[in-house]
Amino acid sequence: MSLNNYKILGGAMTWVSNPSLTSAIANEGALGVLATGSMRACDLDAALKETKEKTKEDFAVNLIAMNPEFDGLVKVCADHKIKYIVLGAALPRKERIESLKSFGAKVIGFASSLKIAQAMIRNGIDALILEGSEAGGHVGPISTQVLVQEILFNIKDFPIFIAGGIGCGRMIKHYLDMGATGCQLGSRFVCSKESPMHPRAKAIYISKNAKDTCVVGSIDPMFSVIPVRVIKNKAVEEFYLKQNEALLNFKLGKLSKEEAILSLEKFWAGSLRRGVIEGDVENGSLMAGQSISFVKKEESIKEIINQLKTEGQLCFQ
Ligand SMILES: Cc1cc2nc3c(=O)[nH]c(=O)nc-3n(C[C@H](O)[C@H](O)[C@H](O)COP(=O)(O)O)c2cc1C
Repeated sequence: MSLNNYKILGGAMTWVSNPSLTSAIANEGALGVLATGSMRACDLDAALKETKEKTKEDFAVNLIAMNPEFDGLVKVCADHKIKYIVLGAALPRKERIESLKSFGAKVIGFASSLKIAQAMIRNGIDALILEGSEAGGHVGPISTQVLVQEILFNIKDFPIFIAGGIGCGRMIKHYLDMGATGCQLGSRFVCSKESPMHPRAKAIYISKNAKDTCVVGSIDPMFSVIPVRVIKNKAVEEFYLKQNEALLNFKLGKLSKEEAILSLEKFWAGSLRRGVIEGDVENGSLMAGQSISFVKKEESIKEIINQLKTEGQLCFQ
């Protein structure tokens, strides 16, 4: 299916967006995005084979620029002729976009300002996601509402998807009416039956609301880590301690800035596994958007997507 026809993207969620969830979303006519945040190249190859066994529909792969395995992951995507890549990088270089397009993939990037959006379009990006600070996981400082006014309202005839804080179909319909191609949702799918999330974690997500999430950011302006929106728990305190340790090691010259930041990213990936897969809901990270207010029970992906379609009177082609 062409990118312009997708009204819903099931945003990649590290550990959660596995072959089962990605294929279930794809089978309902939305674009599932397989997460690779925790993967090595050989893991991705196995995950792609499994996803393809579970769906005949297209799906996307999320590649995160700072992943040390990036080049290996790209090669696996090329071997599998992946049609859509969602690139997690602030402003991907032209050469990087071109290298992904060289095997026929359409490349989707995240834009956090009009200038960045225009630069990404000049660099050859095929579509944009505007993800506001309401979203779960790594976030920027700007709300979805402001990104929409700044970017969506000023770029015409270009596929733009809106993400962050979207929990019901009526909201998707509003963004479509404003000119968006579609919306990317993450948190709305975490408690689906097809999600690999641990039952204890699912119970927490179901019981919490927007006010139970917070953004965990940098403790030092010269040491900028990307802020992350999570459900408040002990892991938040642990992250601040970990950040202090990384900052100290950087100041003592034991770690380069990049190594120190990477150690924190690894902390999130490991801690996220502990929370959402192992079910340690106190000490593990529970990344979630404010849209968890709309997660009320465990449902199948079919039920969730049908509900979104009905609420928004959305028609999938
Ligand atoms: C548990 C979790 C993990 C996430 N991991 C990733 C990731 O690995 N890569 C990425 O691009 N976005 C990631 N995101 C963001 C989602 O893809 C999506 O853009 C976001 O959840 C949208 O906001 P919402 O949660 O309000 O629907 C993650 C979100 C959550 C909740």
